[in-house]
Amino acid sequence: MTTGATEPSDASEEEPGRAATPERLQKFLSRAGAASRRGAEGMILAGRVRVNGVVVTTLGEKVVAGRDEVAVDGTVVAPPSELWYLLLNKPAGVVTTLHDPQGRPTVARYVPKDAPRLFPVGRLDHATTGLLLLTNDGEFDHMMMHPSHHVPKIYHAEVDGIPDAEDIRRLREGVDLDDGRTAPAEAAVVERRHDGSVVEIILREGRKRQVRRMLSAVGHPVRTLSRIAYGTVTIGRLPEGSVRALRDGEVNALRRAAQGGT
Ligand code: URA
Repeated sequence: MTTGATEPSDASEEEPGRAATPERLQKFLSRAGAASRRGAEGMILAGRVRVNGVVVTTLGEKVVAGRDEVAVDGTVVAPPSELWYLLLNKPAGVVTTLHDPQGRPTVARYVPKDAPRLFPVGRLDHATTGLLLLTNDGEFDHMMMHPSHHVPKIYHAEVDGIPDAEDIRRLREGVDLDDGRTAPAEAAVVERRHDGSVVEIILREGRKRQVRRMLSAVGHPVRTLSRIAYGTVTIGRLPEGSVRALRDGEVNALRRAAQGGT
């Protein structure tokens, strides 16, 4: 494994975990990875959250990280004191989990030894290569994964044959899959080879095996698939099996993209 620069990124404008400033309980829970802010509100209203041993059921409550003890369903939760955001160029044959009961190689082997417990943001199939984000920032994860946030992801798929204009139109306008029609996407043939081609697809949703299923549905099964960009963050020249820290600007750009900015 090659390890690039892995300094933790301190991208937060609010310096989570550092300042002893009060913050709303739902924000604390979200930063701790317990739920999205909306989900955390539901947990509070349902009486599942205790602050210093006392059940809180109103949304105005404020807590201070490092001072107050917050528990969800009896388990103490806390936001990380140092936020990490890594980009891994995932090799094929690696599972996007930290532990695989079948003993297959997982992304955990690429996480630097001095890192805190990180988790993958979304997943890539076992056979898919390319850009995978890893973080310990629960709020960032929820933000990236929320279906309404639409951060575009760019894939390059090497396929059988060459999709024609009608295939590309279907990929762009929506393909009927067994879990419903896909949302409008961007698609183009970016390379023609003697027995196949490379198709670039930009998706704003993330269903299971979506690119593979879309291309099979239009008659061009995928041979190899790689994710080359996530929002404005690109894989660049990072070799397969290598990780690097995201720059603060990259983290901020992803947050803006998830919030509907540029
Ligand atoms: N679409 C797929 O089919 N597989 C992936 O890993 C990601 C997107």
